[in-house]
Amino acid sequence: MKHDPAATETSPLSRTLPHAPAELTLGRLTRLGEGVGKVVYASENWVVKRDRSPSEILALIALWKFLRKIERLLPGRLGERLLEKPSRQIHALRMLVQGFMGVVPRSVWFATHIGEMWRVHRSRDERGEILARSRLAGESLTPERVQFPPARVNVGGWPGWLTVSEATERVDATLHERLMELARAGRFEELEEWLDRFLELRPEGWRRGVFSVDAHLKNFGVHRNRIVLIDAGGLTDDWVEIESRLTFEEVVNEPHIQLGLGAVLGARPDIADRFNKRWKAVVNRSEVRRHWPANGSA
Ligand SMILES: Nc1ncnc2c1ncn2[C@@H]1O[C@H](COP(=O)(O)OP(=O)(O)O)[C@@H](O)[C@H]1O
Ligand SMILES: [Mg+2]
Repeated sequence: MKHDPAATETSPLSRTLPHAPAELTLGRLTRLGEGVGKVVYASENWVVKRDRSPSEILALIALWKFLRKIERLLPGRLGERLLEKPSRQIHALRMLVQGFMGVVPRSVWFATHIGEMWRVHRSRDERGEILARSRLAGESLTPERVQFPPARVNVGGWPGWLTVSEATERVDATLHERLMELARAGRFEELEEWLDRFLELRPEGWRRGVFSVDAHLKNFGVHRNRIVLIDAGGLTDDWVEIESRLTFEEVVNEPHIQLGLGAVLGARPDIADRFNKRWKAVVNRSEVRRHWPANGSA
């Protein structure tokens, strides 16, 4: 990153700039990706995030649950593809669901299981952000964040513009994208190196007293030759949750399938096998406890 040190005031958590980086306000930002909670727009070196409204999130969760149910009834891999790749179709479906949900009072939705999932999602997101700021910031485990006075930026697609007062360094690709690219190009040695780096990164969090219960490949980014956490949403220091996740890990026999790497490693069962063995040796109770700080809440 090219920064002008003279123009900035340094702080250990995030830097404050006198104004938004010029590239954010000059052109129109492209829509880079989205998750359940956020839509992400980018300029060349920075991303800004728009938090989805509660009704958008509720509609997405409802839609996701519905697709899960009918997945097996959809032709071919259509259901699976829809779940994996929020696309134009998903967008259209979500708008439909949202319209339908609009006629039912929100209090009714919030009382349902969908409402419960929304609450869990939101509170995980907030807690994760706080943990990331207090335990991971400034350690090159997360992309750099900058803050600045509110600025209006143009974005492709609805709503056309956004007001933002912080931005995050853009990563080269999500870990998921990088592994897909490498597999397509047949560069399996490099792919395996990235898998190793992913496994080396996880204990880095544990040493700082945080564990990710949502450690999937789209929540990590590749920044030059390192992996960073781009979505703090699943971070926790609560041992009840950590235990429950680790209990789940115990019954997963093929972690690479769980991570969505089944097809990617289809041609290389040897890599899948090595990765699964390493994962099992790293992501388990005794390892997490061994790395956990003595003063952590274990
Ligand atoms: N710093 C970043 N650089 C590049 N892409 C990003 C960055 N942060 C997020 N993204 C993209 O946006 C997607 C959603 O962002 P994320 O923070 O995971 O939101 P959510 O909480 O909704 O899951 C990511 O999977 C990724 O594709
Ligand atoms: Mg995410």
